[in-house]
Amino acid sequence: MCGIVGYIGNQDAKSVLIKGLEKLEYRGYDSSGIALLNETGIHVYKEQGRIAALNDVIDHQETALVGIGHTRWATHGKPSRRNAHPHQSNSGRFTIVHNGVIENYEEIKQQFLSGVPFSSDTDTEVIVQLMEKLVESGLEVEEAFRQLLVTMKGSYAVALLDDEDIHTIYVGKNKSPLLIGLGQDFHVIASDAMAMLQLTNQFVELMDEEMVILRQHSKTIKNLSGELMQRRPFQVKLDASDIEKGIYPHYMLKEIDEQPFVIRKIVSKYQDGNGDLIIDPNIRNSMKEADRIYLIACGTSYHAGLVGKQLIEKIAEIPVETHIASEFLYNRPILSKNPLFIFISQSGETADSRGVLVAIKQLGYPTLTITNVPGSTLSREANFTLLTHAGPEIAVASTKAYTAQIAVLAILAFDSAHAKGIKQEINPFHELSIAANAMDIMINKKEMMEENVWKYLNASRTCFFIGRSMDYYACLEGALKLKEISYIQAEGFAGGELKHGTIALIEEGTPVIALLTQSHIRGNIRSNVQEVLARGAHVCMISMEGMEEKHDQIVLPAIHEHLTPLVSVIPLQLIAYYAAVYRGCDVDKPRNLAKSVTVE
Ligand code: F6R
Repeated sequence: MCGIVGYIGNQDAKSVLIKGLEKLEYRGYDSSGIALLNETGIHVYKEQGRIAALNDVIDHQETALVGIGHTRWATHGKPSRRNAHPHQSNSGRFTIVHNGVIENYEEIKQQFLSGVPFSSDTDTEVIVQLMEKLVESGLEVEEAFRQLLVTMKGSYAVALLDDEDIHTIYVGKNKSPLLIGLGQDFHVIASDAMAMLQLTNQFVELMDEEMVILRQHSKTIKNLSGELMQRRPFQVKLDASDIEKGIYPHYMLKEIDEQPFVIRKIVSKYQDGNGDLIIDPNIRNSMKEADRIYLIACGTSYHAGLVGKQLIEKIAEIPVETHIASEFLYNRPILSKNPLFIFISQSGETADSRGVLVAIKQLGYPTLTITNVPGSTLSREANFTLLTHAGPEIAVASTKAYTAQIAVLAILAFDSAHAKGIKQEINPFHELSIAANAMDIMINKKEMMEENVWKYLNASRTCFFIGRSMDYYACLEGALKLKEISYIQAEGFAGGELKHGTIALIEEGTPVIALLTQSHIRGNIRSNVQEVLARGAHVCMISMEGMEEKHDQIVLPAIHEHLTPLVSVIPLQLIAYYAAVYRGCDVDKPRNLAKSVTVE
């Protein structure tokens, strides 16, 4: 994780870097720091905690036209000022910021840096100390930087300053995302275009194992053999206002509210003027030819993948397995003859998913990425991409990306069914539009969710979510939302599984949120609710119209039963949101987390 920024131009670098880091805080917020380079040398400011803490320690009188910055999600070395970036070489000549993990940092230490004192516990400091060593051995700075990158194994997006050269930033990239932004009289670097949208929407993408010599009016991109690389800029089509909170107290609430709009947008993006599905014919063929589909994802995206399995199997009649990316390579299933691998990732940058993609590409199987971020690593590296069109998701807890992923998986399933000649009685776009309206209705019942939080979760440290079939998957997502932002211990359970052990945890007043949207499990889940009620549980029953009973607390508008997680997840997201607000938690930036998980 971590985010990096850099600026070289004719404006005050300090404020550009700070604004940029604020936009990248979603990538980690254990510490932050900046280095400013001017005629008087390098000035480093860093602090544990948020950018606000950094702002307090910066000398605001210091001005510079060149600088680099970093916001950290700790991997090597605990969150502290000592481990905050930028890191400096012992002489103070070189200063670096780094996003990624240097896998061979111990070897580098032993082989090249014995006897060198270190002032942090990070893998990153090894890089900057080695840089100094290479220059001391007589290499020119550019050549030393190239050799440095050749020596480093692992993932990195790095920016390096040399206090003997106030006209250059040295940039390197492998596996971690990095863009160069272009302006009239400046260049910027950023882990994500969002960080620099206030200055430019023209960016150049860097590929793995590339370096850049960046100056105010020039950018020289080379591969690690020293060959010049040409790259066309592209325009980022985001508006700076897309990433503002507007009237909302938190991004999460804004993003929950945006979900019906996102579903309608997906409907319009995947439908032509005649109401027919628009899907890349190559994707259609790959789906048609696949004898088994492997859905690979993490966290919330994995939960969308569980729903996706049901959708594809039921609608397109293709066998599907859904796997947690970080487990797949260790417990690899026996693959079918003609598999299709589908990666589901909001960010398109998740290292665990990418690890599987790289391995699968080596085996030569076709790959498709479903992502929210065009041009992201997983999108670039897979054979095909389907976009979720959810717009930037800033809150660390994923909401609109989840429902968008389910909608796109549904469209893919319907398209494949059509391509295979399987007759469909329903129109997917019509059903998705009904779902969007139902989502609107639930979003407008915020007060009810707020009340339920008071009633069920007020002083509780624990909560169970129970459901069966599709509802079980929505329960897993509801539990993840609650635990990650409110820190309440939450478990999503298959209703029938409780009695095999976990029911031992139910006692007087234990909150249990039960979901019922699937008619075929109606009786069973109601029995499971009786079982926990009999043991004193405090049950909040969420049922769908047509299956509701008199005392159910929340009734969802009826929608097609394949698509119910789109609607049932809304009260769960809102309950998690209000629980976090009432507990005084940092809703958008929960502790220990980061939005884009670029370490394995
Ligand atoms: C939870 C959450 C995470 C992500 C997971 C995968 O709210 O956001 O569980 O879903 O880290 O991230 P992506 O989808 O970017 O691959």
